[in-house]
Amino acid sequence: MLNKITVVGAGNVGATAAQRIAEKELARTVVMVDVADGIPQGKALDQWESAPVELFDSRVIGSNGYDESAGSDIVVITAGIARKPGMSRDDLLNTNAGIVKSVAEQVAKTSPKAIIIVVSNPLDVMCYVAMKASGFPRERVIGMAGVLDTARYRSFLAEALDVSVRDIQAMVLGGHGDTMVPLISYTTVSGIPITQLLAKDKLDAIVDRARNGGAEIVKFLKTGSAYYAPSSGAVQMVEAIAHDQKRILPCSAWLQGEYGMKDLFLGVPVKLGAKGMEKIIEVTLTDDEKAALAKSAEAVREPMGVIKL
Ligand code: NAI
Ligand code: 2OP
Repeated sequence: MLNKITVVGAGNVGATAAQRIAEKELARTVVMVDVADGIPQGKALDQWESAPVELFDSRVIGSNGYDESAGSDIVVITAGIARKPGMSRDDLLNTNAGIVKSVAEQVAKTSPKAIIIVVSNPLDVMCYVAMKASGFPRERVIGMAGVLDTARYRSFLAEALDVSVRDIQAMVLGGHGDTMVPLISYTTVSGIPITQLLAKDKLDAIVDRARNGGAEIVKFLKTGSAYYAPSSGAVQMVEAIAHDQKRILPCSAWLQGEYGMKDLFLGVPVKLGAKGMEKIIEVTLTDDEKAALAKSAEAVREPMGVIKL
């Protein structure tokens, strides 16, 4: 068990992630930090009061500052705002960049050895902001999106095939947006290539649904975006690090020549362990997948050029 894990942003994703982290007893203390007065304190107390029923001993506390989070082993950043009427995409980008920058600076000051997992959107660009603002090496700044996008893809495949989600192995790479790249060539059901089990038109429809999985939830919820599956994705990464599991998961990582790309965060297969991003795994891609990954990289580079740091 780690000593302390902090979740910044006690909103839908942050609070759900904190509860899952506590229930799995991944750290002795779980701290929720948020600027909203009383919200992290109230949610943390409520979660702690569930401990005697859910049977966990991780102590959950909430705060509006960073003193309680000092010395955290892992910090999950979910702070940010959703787009409001009248706001352009660039306005959102710059607002969230400002928030993530100030959070990452505080984290660097108070938890200089932490591993940061970024969740705030736009994901791959916010990872860049967090890395710059914290000054942390790339091994300690990782983004969560691929686990979520892959979970969506796997759940749709399990449903279409009427098989257990456990038996679907897959990986979605690229940026967190509609240019993401589900790797059909690496999608199997207990080792059986997916192309032997599903017709191309059905598979294409599932790939398309996975690409638009975030928007599908927003359309239902209307006032917010997904948080159950996103928090599961973030916590799977926390667990891999906390237990030094050496899991191979699709994560947003700072590329330095891998996949022929440099100086951007992009979703790639990563080995996650106690040191954070321990290795980027380079897999062979088809020509179509290479082209799709390059297109996805362009979609990340464009907003990177707009943000004011
Ligand atoms: P939310 O609105 O429920 O929560 C955001 C929280 O951040 C609020 O409680 C707000 O008070 C807090 N906050 C704002 N500025 C802050 C600051 N400077 N310091 C600390 N806290 C601050 O939003 P939700 O649904 O929890 O989503 C959070 C973020 O995660 C959004 O940017 C969303 O787009 C992103 N997201 C990313 C996913 C991914 O796959 N990477 C999936 C789902 C959400
Ligand atoms: C999602 O994919 C909004 O990025 C978030 O649900």
